[in-house]
Amino acid sequence: MCTIENKMIRCLGLLLLLITLNNANAQKRYAIRPQKTLLQTVDTSLKQSVEQYKILMHHLQPEQWPRTFENGRLMTVTPYAWTSGFYPGTLLYLYEFSGDSTLLSEIQRRLKNMEKLKTVTVNHDLGFMMNCSFGNAYRLFNNPHDKDVLVRSAKSLATRFDPRVGCIKSWDEVKSLDGKRMLNFPVIIDNMMNLELLFFASKVTGEPYYKDIAIKHVETTMKNHLRPDFSSYHVVNYDVETGEVKSRETQQGFSDNSTWSRGQAWGIYGFTMVYRETGDRRFLETAQKMADFFINHPNLPEDKIPYWDFNVGQPGFNPPWKYDPAKYPVTPRDASAAAITASALIELAGYVKHKVGESYLKAAEAMLQSLSSPAYRSEIGKNSGFILMHASGGVPGNAEVDVPLSYADYYYTEALMRYRALRK
Ligand code: GLY
Repeated sequence: MCTIENKMIRCLGLLLLLITLNNANAQKRYAIRPQKTLLQTVDTSLKQSVEQYKILMHHLQPEQWPRTFENGRLMTVTPYAWTSGFYPGTLLYLYEFSGDSTLLSEIQRRLKNMEKLKTVTVNHDLGFMMNCSFGNAYRLFNNPHDKDVLVRSAKSLATRFDPRVGCIKSWDEVKSLDGKRMLNFPVIIDNMMNLELLFFASKVTGEPYYKDIAIKHVETTMKNHLRPDFSSYHVVNYDVETGEVKSRETQQGFSDNSTWSRGQAWGIYGFTMVYRETGDRRFLETAQKMADFFINHPNLPEDKIPYWDFNVGQPGFNPPWKYDPAKYPVTPRDASAAAITASALIELAGYVKHKVGESYLKAAEAMLQSLSSPAYRSEIGKNSGFILMHASGGVPGNAEVDVPLSYADYYYTEALMRYRALRK
């Protein structure tokens, strides 16, 4: 064979190898078809969301990050709050949809102000904060500076991993909900969401450490945070010397043995994302079983927007906090849990065979229909510019109950964009 042919064969071989390596994380995706009428609703809703967020923008001072609208007032937080990434993150999705330059200027201002967070190590929330903001910015604009901020943030998050426990510590310490005990190594199911930042860091640096600790965290969570029916505990507190579980309890749910709806939603989303990043079928199966628990639960209302906890007031579920049933004659819903779950189910539907995938997509569609209706979606000009109503933050602490929340808006907008992407 002549040298030119040999060279061509070698080049082709190299090309094939590169394609294979590049696709190492790309899981098989099944084609799923969106509904035409819902696609129209999705586009209308995104257009209205752009209008709403421009209104929200005008209500904010540069150091104020929107959190909720409560008792007729816009409530804001500093960029150090766990929710700070959701506002620029929602703007990024809305910019992706509309190309509106007003949104872009606000995104740039906010990201500039958030860069300082990259060295924060006081809790696990850096994944939420940086991945939703800088992560989306990097996805859209491919700016190497945003990549560096993300990698530095992953480094900060990784400092909270303890090999004895095999987990990233969520909070330094917290009192149990009955106020009687101190939890010294609490890990919450929400923490699954922070791992995406670690997977990203390994991909762009080539350093396996970030991915390795993320996988260890997932394995520990799979072992200790889930019940046999694949419902989830909110908090697992560990003994840091032995790595043993000391207690399983709640901070934001109804009772220690109940299923807090947003916690279940974080789990469904988190395990789906980890399957995307690893291709490990144990994680896909866990995501599916957690999703099945949610969408088939007998207490899931007809409109598919869950109550804030699946077990509120049920026999056998005893709150460790002062629960007064008269305070909430109508059990509050949590639109954020529905938005997170809808977004996760759209992705999950593409990873499983046809009939099952269709059933996940159908559930997501029902959630999006409800969230996009006047029952949950704010009228333009109302609620200070938030998109959704009827989300619940922390019912046991009577904080942010049945109100708009920035993270409900973020995952709703993400779900709309994911649904829209199915038409390609
Ligand atoms: N990660 C905090 C919450 O879901 O309320």
